[in-house]
Amino acid sequence: MYDYDVAVIGGGPGGYVAAIKAAQAGKKTVLVEKEHLGGTCLNIGCIPTKALVKSVQVLSDVKKAAEFGVEGVEQQRVRASMEKIQARKNAVVKQLTGGVGALLRGNGVSVISGAGSLADAHTVRVEDKTFTAEYLILATGSEPLMPGFIKYEGDTNIITSTEALSLREIPETMTIIGGGVIGVEFAYIYSGLGTKVTVVELMEDILPMVDQEISRLAAKALKKAGVTLYTGAKVKKVSDNRVIFEKDGKEQSVEGRYTLMAVGRTPCVEGLNADDVGLEFDRKAIKTDDHLRTTIPNIYAIGDLNAKVMLAHTASREAEVAVANILGKDETMRYDRIPSCIYMEPEIAAVGLTEQQARERYENIQVGRFPLSANGKSLIEGDKTGMIKVILDAEYHEILGVHMFAVHATDMIAEIVAAMDLEATAAEIIALVHPHPTVSEAVGEAFLAACGKAVHAL
Ligand code: NAI
Repeated sequence: MYDYDVAVIGGGPGGYVAAIKAAQAGKKTVLVEKEHLGGTCLNIGCIPTKALVKSVQVLSDVKKAAEFGVEGVEQQRVRASMEKIQARKNAVVKQLTGGVGALLRGNGVSVISGAGSLADAHTVRVEDKTFTAEYLILATGSEPLMPGFIKYEGDTNIITSTEALSLREIPETMTIIGGGVIGVEFAYIYSGLGTKVTVVELMEDILPMVDQEISRLAAKALKKAGVTLYTGAKVKKVSDNRVIFEKDGKEQSVEGRYTLMAVGRTPCVEGLNADDVGLEFDRKAIKTDDHLRTTIPNIYAIGDLNAKVMLAHTASREAEVAVANILGKDETMRYDRIPSCIYMEPEIAAVGLTEQQARERYENIQVGRFPLSANGKSLIEGDKTGMIKVILDAEYHEILGVHMFAVHATDMIAEIVAAMDLEATAAEIIALVHPHPTVSEAVGEAFLAACGKAVHAL
């Protein structure tokens, strides 16, 4: 009766995972993508950003070579070639996006190039052609937010993360509006390459979504790397290349070769025809229930488009949940157990509540901290900055949140995600054997500290 069982619009980590999962379950599946397979994450988001981060880390390691006893590096000759950094980044992206195409083909998913829009609840239009499907999964992602409350005048050099990923030169100066995740990652990247970076953030702390103790450590590390931070500073206008902001009731400004706009992302709904078919919105996002169903029962919306938690791994999990529900199962999302990772030096990773949130929701909590300066592997790695912070409820020692600012933090957080999902208590983490020597030993120690006393700290 329908051309396809499942039609997916958008080929990012939400859409392509949904298409593969549906096809693997025996559904006749089609995926529509208007630009590149892999979406924001693979093409202009996570993957290219982290490829740049890696180049910055190599540069920083080479500069530190003598500390590790490696001689012969002529410091004055060490330089970053933006052309070669970009070429490496592009090669990484190309390999991964090519891989997505192969996975879709290998699983029997039909891929249509073009912009998909909804003709009705079961019909998708791509240019002048239409096809029907029993179920639709919308996964069109998000784009940088260009807020109306910031005025522009003159000849501005405003860029978003998309352009910041592909600059052909290392600019002398850059002003970043917004000290959130994008702002901080690009501040790290460009200051590491030698740009004089200034970040202007509205809230009292950069990374306002992160546990305050950790965000303050991150601010300290960025300042040490030469980044100028203005917090509690509201940007009002960009005039030519001067960013004008209000701080402490006074108007101030900073000039930069580029102005990177990083005040959030907004769902991509343009051209989807979502309101005409009757889908409801939650501000700019497509409204969904905890099963990822929109207000039209056979249509699902996943990933940045529903704006619940705008992260690639959320989108992929939502894809699995949406497909499971299409298959007649009854699955829901657990947004409170989604980890978040921020890539700078060292890395930030967290899952669960911040200390402030935990204090608001629980009567009694216990907080444990372990400094990385007391961890052998961190010393070996040459970066002993940071800490592991554990938040438990005082009654049952349930894990409420874990926050890491540490070398390898983004890889280590998975242990806590598993523990929280299995409803492990602190005692169970403490009883686990963490391999030696690893940074993960500091995780066990932070749990010990939360319950009383760490072994390797006084
Ligand atoms: P964000 O929401 O993380 O941060 C935006 C920042 O801009 C906030 O700190 C906010 O207080 C500030 N701001 C707002 N208006 C302002 C004004 N007028 N003046 C100064 N500051 C102002 O958004 P961001 O960094 O653009 O990232 C967008 C999305 O992409 C987020 O959902 C983020 O989690 C995701 N992302 C995730 C990454 C990761 O997981 N490693 C990397 C990059 C992005």
